[in-house]
Amino acid sequence: MPNVRVAAAPDALFRMAADELARIATDAASARGVCHIALSGGSTPKALYALLATPLYRGSIPWTRTHLFWSDERHVPPDSSQSNYGVAREALLRHVPVPASNVHRIRGELSVAGSAASQYEDALWQTLKPASGRPPKFDAILLGMGEDGHTASLFPGSAAIGEVSRWVVAPFVEKFRAHRVTFTLPLINEAANVLFLVTGEAKAPILERALTGNESAQELPCRGVHLRDGRLIWYADRAAASHLPKELQEGCS
Ligand code: 6PG
Repeated sequence: MPNVRVAAAPDALFRMAADELARIATDAASARGVCHIALSGGSTPKALYALLATPLYRGSIPWTRTHLFWSDERHVPPDSSQSNYGVAREALLRHVPVPASNVHRIRGELSVAGSAASQYEDALWQTLKPASGRPPKFDAILLGMGEDGHTASLFPGSAAIGEVSRWVVAPFVEKFRAHRVTFTLPLINEAANVLFLVTGEAKAPILERALTGNESAQELPCRGVHLRDGRLIWYADRAAASHLPKELQEGCS
């Protein structure tokens, strides 16, 4: 039974997600002295990043012991309006004391997206120092979901969905006629926690298919997220959850 947490409206949803992220980060920093979080892109998490930058939440995350990564990035420079890093920099990074050396952006400005992907894998090795034979284990990975069921930059039908050894790849996305750089499912599925953030009526049909259907990960890449031993939590507002069966909703707040 998927763990779905439904909030009456987006602002309550982002408070629930921010509280969970703060708990994860605080526990990790207390246990290991460091916390590794991968932020997601798109428009949904902007409000969460802005919330984390407010006085109410700014002190809830141990920023000086937190390393930030991105679960995907567009093949653009960091100052592009399309940059997932750029969105987080404006909404969050400028407002919290995360050391610049703890911010690990994907170098979308490189002419060859594949080089950005391999450099990012190196950064994952060096920073997370994975156990031998295992992908790096993030304390939390934030993910969004598109209306076609994509997540990160794993789009339906992409060969990247079936990647089993690399942690970061740079698929060409036909839909945008552009490359992306994205985490792969083996890396995502190694995480201790994955938090999906889904809001709005437009996502209701795909969220129902994702949580109650039986399509393959090739058809609906978000269905490829099955954590090896971590916690997968779906955060949805009432509009996005409106097509779900009642037993899937853990309650609205
Ligand atoms: C990206 C994201 C992507 C996003 C979904 C949902 O780079 O666009 O990583 O996977 O999370 O497309 O986007 P919205 O939040 O804008 O609906």
